[in-house]
Amino acid sequence: MSTILVTGGAGYIGSHAVLALKNAGYEVIVLDNLSNGHRELVEEVLQVKLIVGDISDRSLLDDIFSTHNLTAVMHFAAYIAVGESVIDPAKYYHNNVVGNGSGFSVREVIETAKEITGKEIKIEERDRRPGDPPILVGSSDKATKILGWHPKYPNLNEIIAHAWQWHQQRHR
Ligand SMILES: NC(=O)c1ccc[n+]([C@@H]2O[C@H](COP(=O)([O-])OP(=O)(O)OC[C@H]3O[C@@H](n4cnc5c(N)ncnc54)[C@H](O)[C@@H]3O)[C@@H](O)[C@H]2O)c1
Repeated sequence: MSTILVTGGAGYIGSHAVLALKNAGYEVIVLDNLSNGHRELVEEVLQVKLIVGDISDRSLLDDIFSTHNLTAVMHFAAYIAVGESVIDPAKYYHNNVVGNGSGFSVREVIETAKEITGKEIKIEERDRRPGDPPILVGSSDKATKILGWHPKYPNLNEIIAHAWQWHQQRHR
């Protein structure tokens, strides 16, 4: 039987994917750090194996890939709070993994968000903290090369417009 690893399977979208996979006859394993997910949803409701851990933990991933015969990975592990992502973008850059190869400064993101949303965004500028890199850009080159993947929304205006549309629908 095919086994699928679902990252973020204890969250909203991931858990629905787990249910659909189970109904389609797949064996499912969930990897989730439970930062926003629910253990009982995976273990008691969906009744699939839950591995509590972080997608950035390379040795854990090596262990999972070497001990399970996985057919595919469905990746839903991410932070999703749009408001928080504007206040603390680095947290989101670090966790939400694949970038589009073009960097945007925090100021650019804030200015674009102001334009798209038509809202004033309060900002407080501080000095760079020790250890903050001057530039940090996620590259998707490998995903493009190996998987033929291309970002659907490479442009900052489109990314924010899409996120804003989603946010408004969700908080109507
Ligand atoms: N909810 C929506 O309507 C919606 C719409 C479009 C796209 N999405 C995308 O789907 C994905 C999942 O969204 P969601 O609404 O299910 O969010 P969610 O917060 O409900 O689920 C995300 C899950 O990932 C886990 N997680 C986060 N970071 C992790 C990490 N580093 N390692 C392991 N687990 C981690 C959390 O604990 C949580 O269970 C996101 O990329 C989101 O942008 C969601």
